[in-house]
Amino acid sequence: MSDEQRPDLVDTFNPNNLDSAFYEDPYPTYEALRTSDPVHRCQDGSFFLTRYSDLDQIYRDRTGFSSDKKSAFAPKFGVHSPLFEHHTTSLVFNDAPYHTRVRRHIVEALTPQVLRGMEPHLITLVEGLLDKIEDQGRVDLIESFAAAIPVEVIGNLLAVPHEDRRPLRAWSLAILGALEPVLTEQQQEAGNRAVREFTDYLRNLVAHRRAHPSDDDLLSGLLQESDFSSAELLHNCVFLLNAGHETTTNLIGNSLALLLSHPDAIHQLRTQPDLIGTAIEECLRLESPNQLGNRLVVQQRRMGGVTLQPGTYLTLCIGAANRDPAEFPQPDVFSIGRKPNRHLAFAAGSHACAGMSVARLEARIAILRFIQRFPNVQLTGELLRGGRARFRGFRALWAEARPA
Ligand code: HEM
Repeated sequence: MSDEQRPDLVDTFNPNNLDSAFYEDPYPTYEALRTSDPVHRCQDGSFFLTRYSDLDQIYRDRTGFSSDKKSAFAPKFGVHSPLFEHHTTSLVFNDAPYHTRVRRHIVEALTPQVLRGMEPHLITLVEGLLDKIEDQGRVDLIESFAAAIPVEVIGNLLAVPHEDRRPLRAWSLAILGALEPVLTEQQQEAGNRAVREFTDYLRNLVAHRRAHPSDDDLLSGLLQESDFSSAELLHNCVFLLNAGHETTTNLIGNSLALLLSHPDAIHQLRTQPDLIGTAIEECLRLESPNQLGNRLVVQQRRMGGVTLQPGTYLTLCIGAANRDPAEFPQPDVFSIGRKPNRHLAFAAGSHACAGMSVARLEARIAILRFIQRFPNVQLTGELLRGGRARFRGFRALWAEARPA
């Protein structure tokens, strides 16, 4: 990027007013911010941070920064709204001690044994989807593949009956969509409706599971925890189902798009399948599915020459930090063997993604099996981006898939 472009991108940057060019490719803007104004003051008084070292420090500093979003969500959603109740009861938007208590239950339930148990189902699911793609030839890889995997995995984890899974994705999109910086009235209504429908559904599922307990699903495990109120249990299950959906769909979709636009990388991965681990980490870094996080300053801190006062809201730009040349040599280059690769796609510190092993397992199995089955796959037509700043992915990714 030329030097003349930089001040313009930085001066006019307003996360509450982004245009389609930004959604298409936010990285030139992120680079300009990181280089010229890494702790950028936004028009509403919040700050937008883009350097790796600043984000890493904030994520690990529990006393200086809070995840509690009650004061931010009250004016955004209204304190009596379903969206407010849902998001402020989810562990991710809370601090200790509530956060610690809920997180412990989830982490304890996602044991290595539970993960190992998921693998055979996952392989069968992926192979079944690949068979269907092979029959169809030209497909939308988001609908036919990327989005079809997480809904089943997370549905299995919480033992949601197969026939009930259809509405889960739309609920999840509506509830997480409400976290975008700016919301239309329709999005707000859709989000509130989705919380109501989702919690009504789960209330019935919980009642059924209490009457017919099982010992091998996450929901039955959570039901045994007597320190959960009914609302806490429902909202954290909704959060788990949402957290595991859109993000992992985008990881699989973004990874496919990256690989399909780098034939050398596909070739390398087919000849050295053991690179799949580092390849997925590189996809997570270069096209992070969750691009933005937030924190509230609770103790004064100084960062990038700026004093951050208590009460200030911060947006942590994971998408920018993951391309910071101070941490990643040649940060814009897609290098599937990259090591070390300490990206922040799952954040870090006490709130680091509790489902990262699940997401990694899904992506590794899905991507490796896909490229082994379809080495000659071609993207066809326009790639349709999701049009959201926080969750980066594709709405559709059309391809012609021919078996080897
Ligand atoms: C590629 C897929 C995924 C990405 C990129 C991702 C990313 C993240 C990030 C960045 C956070 C931290 C949010 C913050 O504190 O600001 C987070 C938290 C969380 N994620 Fe994920 N996630 C993914 C998949 C999953 C899956 C599959 C699950 C569940 C099985 C899950 C469960 C959670 C939970 C429970 C938290 C809250 C942790 C806490 O607050 O202590 N995530 N995730």
